[in-house]
Amino acid sequence: MTPMQASQDALKICQLAPIVPVLVVDDAKDAGPLAKALVAGGLPALEVTLRTPAALEAIAEMAKVQGGVVGAGTLLTPQDVVNAKEAGATFGVSPGATDMLLDACEDADLPLLPGAATASEAMRLLERGYSVLKFFPAEASGGAPALKGIGAPIPQIRFCPTGGVSMKNANDYLSLPNVVCAGGSWVAPKNLVTAGDWGGIEALAREAAALPR
Ligand code: 3PG
Repeated sequence: MTPMQASQDALKICQLAPIVPVLVVDDAKDAGPLAKALVAGGLPALEVTLRTPAALEAIAEMAKVQGGVVGAGTLLTPQDVVNAKEAGATFGVSPGATDMLLDACEDADLPLLPGAATASEAMRLLERGYSVLKFFPAEASGGAPALKGIGAPIPQIRFCPTGGVSMKNANDYLSLPNVVCAGGSWVAPKNLVTAGDWGGIEALAREAAALPR
């Protein structure tokens, strides 16, 4: 797939809801109920980070949940791309971008939301054809003011800021013209997942899904 097609697909996924949950799944048995709760709360696009041994199985379980659109986050290597695709991920997210990783996603037909934190990183990706990027780590990189600053000279790039985003600051990002959605882990806190409090997670998702864009 071409970078342009990847960005078109990534844009559609980002437009599904204001927030993409960033999920760290420790136990694959939680994956199905967790995905159902988030989808029921109005957050269909889900990013499962490849940071736990259970991540690939979690993706496979979540891919069965009706209404969900499941992607793999923390893609670092070409092997991660192959594994994510095999598990059933329909999109990928990476904290940064390398030519090897971009090649692998394009070869595997996996739409990628590649990470960038600076104007130069964003420009390099735009040169290659990627116009929908993850802004990471959002808060540590200057937050909404930094993204607003990048948007002035490069308005054609749309971003999904992730990293330190919460209900407290989500509006600061979502109100920017170059932000299409934001990502965050707060909608699936570890204590609620461990307790199996799917109703609590659905309520957090509902609150996030109602954020204005
Ligand atoms: C990540 O990749 O860890 C995401 O950026 C999530 O960040 P958060 O936990 O600050 O929401």
